[in-house]
Amino acid sequence: MRQPGDKYRPFKAVRLTDRTWPDRAIARAPRWCSVDLRDGNQALAVPMSVPEKLEMFKELCRIGFKEIEIGFPSASDTEFAFTRQLIEQDLVPADVAVQVLVQAREHLIRRTVESLKGARRAIVHLYTPTNPAQREIVFGLSKAEVLEMAVRGARLVRELTDAQPETAWQMEFSPETFVLTEADYALEVCEAVAKAWGASAKRKIILNLPLTVEAGTPNTHADQIEWFCRNLSDRDMAVVSLHTHNDRGTGVAATELGLMAGADRVEGTLFGNGERTGNLDVVTVALNMFSQGVDPKLDLDGLPAVRALYERLTRMTVHERHPYAGDLVFTAFSGSHQDAIKKGMDRRAKQGDGAAWDVPYLTIDPKDIGRSYEAIIRINSQSGKGGVAYVLDREFGYDLPKLMHPEVGQLIGQHADKLGKELSPAEIMEHFRKHFVNLVSPMELVEFDSDPMGKDLVACRVQVRTGGKVLTLRGEGNGPINALVHALEPHGWAGYSVKDYRSHALSSGSESSAAAYVCVQDKRGRAAWGCGVDANIELAGLKALVSAANRLA
Ligand code: KIV
Ligand code: ZN
Repeated sequence: MRQPGDKYRPFKAVRLTDRTWPDRAIARAPRWCSVDLRDGNQALAVPMSVPEKLEMFKELCRIGFKEIEIGFPSASDTEFAFTRQLIEQDLVPADVAVQVLVQAREHLIRRTVESLKGARRAIVHLYTPTNPAQREIVFGLSKAEVLEMAVRGARLVRELTDAQPETAWQMEFSPETFVLTEADYALEVCEAVAKAWGASAKRKIILNLPLTVEAGTPNTHADQIEWFCRNLSDRDMAVVSLHTHNDRGTGVAATELGLMAGADRVEGTLFGNGERTGNLDVVTVALNMFSQGVDPKLDLDGLPAVRALYERLTRMTVHERHPYAGDLVFTAFSGSHQDAIKKGMDRRAKQGDGAAWDVPYLTIDPKDIGRSYEAIIRINSQSGKGGVAYVLDREFGYDLPKLMHPEVGQLIGQHADKLGKELSPAEIMEHFRKHFVNLVSPMELVEFDSDPMGKDLVACRVQVRTGGKVLTLRGEGNGPINALVHALEPHGWAGYSVKDYRSHALSSGSESSAAAYVCVQDKRGRAAWGCGVDANIELAGLKALVSAANRLA
């Protein structure tokens, strides 16, 4: 479409030139309210069954939500029965309030309050359409009529809840869609409802300001929230609550800026399930806070298990690149990222867990949310030498000398390229073994004995198999490796020199062995690395030498 301006109008923001929110930061957790069982559930192709809702409810309690919207009990018998089950079977922890949604209609309000009989703590969430399109197109009501409807509803909620004093009640009111409603009118309706409920600093009302459909940039949302908070006649009588959706993909940003603008409470769902593009993703906002050093007061330590439960119960999937929870978010494919992560991790291992988190490309330590380092680096043809070395070290305990990384990285990269796919750690190890470890062709080390001949002199007797024959040879040198080189000089190793050597212990299963790495250069200046593995560290070194020479052959 060439002229979108012919069809679409820009969002009209509230006028607030002296806004203060840009200078504020989020310094503490808000009051969280999960709407998974209501807003999230009503957006599912197959809504959760009662046992599934119950399982989700228990998980939400375990995570630490103290306010949970459990449904719309006046809308269906199933929702009513679920509410009753929670209360009658005493399944709601003492510090958790169940919240239920209802329209401002008498019979629905009566049924709703009835559904909550016997609850310890409950929130009745009343909502009324206040934005012009809903008022005029959907309901055909004037501003005054909508206000009257909301006030009548609030009075009835008050009357009915007063009659059930065994419950600690709170009322929530949502002018829907707040962000598309004239600001002064939304405020007027909220003030009138608060008055009807008898709101005060001791009897707070929750004023939930829905961003039912995102229409503007997140800063316009923040302006609206700050404007509202500043213009409320009594800020203390209200808990200002955010309820964002994600139509423009900025639900998280709108919520964060809304908190900076003065809101106290946030409604949302796990992983952002909800109508259309979803509700606010509570997990992302909470872990964003966590990454800034602020305790979100939600237990997301075991995020993979939370995700698994969510996927099973909602039949939705979490995208691979979903913040924090996606399969690929702690994975680096590019070589430069892998190198940087390896260096960051190595430095952290030296500094210890007490040091501040500062690993390039990783916003948080995956371990903190139950994810593992193993998944951080995966190898494909774009991966660098550092990534391959990291996998061999982290997964298999092979700590390759730095100078060996390019040769190994290149070979594994070519293999990934040839296969046209990402390699698993096992495939990397297999390819490394095949091309570098204990190589026996064209020459195999069959036997090796050495005798010290005095200071810095060793004599060796060695058997090698080459070209189908076993040769017995002798040589001398300043150590076993050197002695072997000399023994093989007349058999094709003339001019060979050992450029580098290192070894370390290797634990695999119950057997402990050693790994050695040797770099050999031939008389033409060509160099190659080899690796030897053996229970005997001296033999590991000799096998590394033969492997390196075999790679040059
Ligand atoms: O998105 C919305 O406006 C709602 C209200 C009922 C709060 O879900
Ligand atoms: Zn909603």
